[in-house]
Amino acid sequence: MAKTKTTYFCQNCGYQASKWLGKCPACGEWNTFVEEAVSKTDDKKRGIKKGEKKAKPVPISQITSEKEERTDTRNGELNRVLGGGLVSGSVVLIGGEPGIGKSTLLLQTALNMKGSRILYVTGEESQQQIKMRADRIGTANDSCFILNETFTTDIFKQIDALEPDILIIDSIQTLYTDTLESSPGSISQIRETAGELMRFAKTTHVPVLLIGHITKDGNLAGPKVLEHMVDTVLQFEGDRHYGFRILRSMKNRFGSTSELGIFEMHTGGLREVSNPSEVLLSQRDEATSGVAIAAMIEGQRPMLVETQALVTNAAYGTPQRSATGFDLRRMNMLLAVLEKRSGFKLGTKDVFLNIAGGIRVDDPAIDLAVVAAILSSSEDIAIENNVCFAAEVGLSGEIRAVTHVENRILEADKLGFKKIIISKFNLKGLDTKRYKIEVVGLNKIEDVLRELFG
Ligand code: TYD
Ligand code: MG
Repeated sequence: MAKTKTTYFCQNCGYQASKWLGKCPACGEWNTFVEEAVSKTDDKKRGIKKGEKKAKPVPISQITSEKEERTDTRNGELNRVLGGGLVSGSVVLIGGEPGIGKSTLLLQTALNMKGSRILYVTGEESQQQIKMRADRIGTANDSCFILNETFTTDIFKQIDALEPDILIIDSIQTLYTDTLESSPGSISQIRETAGELMRFAKTTHVPVLLIGHITKDGNLAGPKVLEHMVDTVLQFEGDRHYGFRILRSMKNRFGSTSELGIFEMHTGGLREVSNPSEVLLSQRDEATSGVAIAAMIEGQRPMLVETQALVTNAAYGTPQRSATGFDLRRMNMLLAVLEKRSGFKLGTKDVFLNIAGGIRVDDPAIDLAVVAAILSSSEDIAIENNVCFAAEVGLSGEIRAVTHVENRILEADKLGFKKIIISKFNLKGLDTKRYKIEVVGLNKIEDVLRELFG
């Protein structure tokens, strides 16, 4: 008979304590401890028999290395993020906010992978709901099976019967196993069900794709334990009010974490975006003030984004500062630099900044475009349509060099821009004659002013 005991788990980070605590000593969150019944599973339940062959140490030179087998997911962006396809026996966790499109992404992938037998297990939606979504996506696939089940023992029964090539679980938080008494979605259930699926993947070499929810502060719910267990963690993000979605690799045992997949949600599912700049640059014929284009890099992909600024006289005593898609503290720093180095009186102005497309930019190379957009709005002079920027701005107003400057220039050149403004220090070793685009290297904020507004 299994012994039942209870432990308190922090629902935010998975920290375990023997008694209830108000504040989690690991993550510092308040009121997150929940009592969960955990019964000690004996080895029999875990499927380990007495006297079974145990693993033995082997010299590394005697281990034959195998090239991992990869399945093409028929989705270029997903393949890219996974490092060239789905590795057999790997467990991939896809996290993201509710409504961002996780279920759509995986269902669409399942429907497109004709020829592979796919089992899509859903604990969130009914089979009819999934069917409606499939109709919306508009692809039919007879080898894609939908199972509405949350009890892992029954899921494994169906797996034995169907023998799928790929298993999709939507979502890990809805599953439960009877080896534990706690409720679905609790830390111990997540850990145990994920463990069962891991063992399944490793023994049968069937790749498993898990959908995971994220908590209010953007971490994967149920958490770190889960992230440590799986082979790959992907994060699906974007602003729900825009169509643009980014699939980012946070951890990948079989590929690089600097890869990035880009999609656009439209009425018939997700569309792969192989040229992100096309979505991020708005179509405009005339140059307007307050707009500057930055040549930035996300992961390893260059893309051009529009930064928009609005500078107006403050209507109230304290000027308002707001930034969407850009760090507000960084914007305040840039404003202070502008005030000090170029004599612009921005202290009494409201400043609003927006990165178009609903994306968040951390690349410091966007600094100069932000500064240019603010200056352009403040002076009400438009920057020409075909000029873009790629440089960091330092505290003393110096224009600093950025990484991968060649990729940025090439992308801007490809998109037909006429001029790119970078740091003078980036010019070293750069053969600017190779490009059609004019490359201008500058040293100080003052030079930018002169270059833009004469
Ligand atoms: P969903 O995949 O259910 O999100 P998640 O599983 O991450 O919670 O997608 C939800 C949103 O996507 C929903 O608001 C509707 C929208 N959507 C489209 O815009 N077009 C489509 O073709 C589909 C299937 C969904
Ligand atoms: Mg969903």
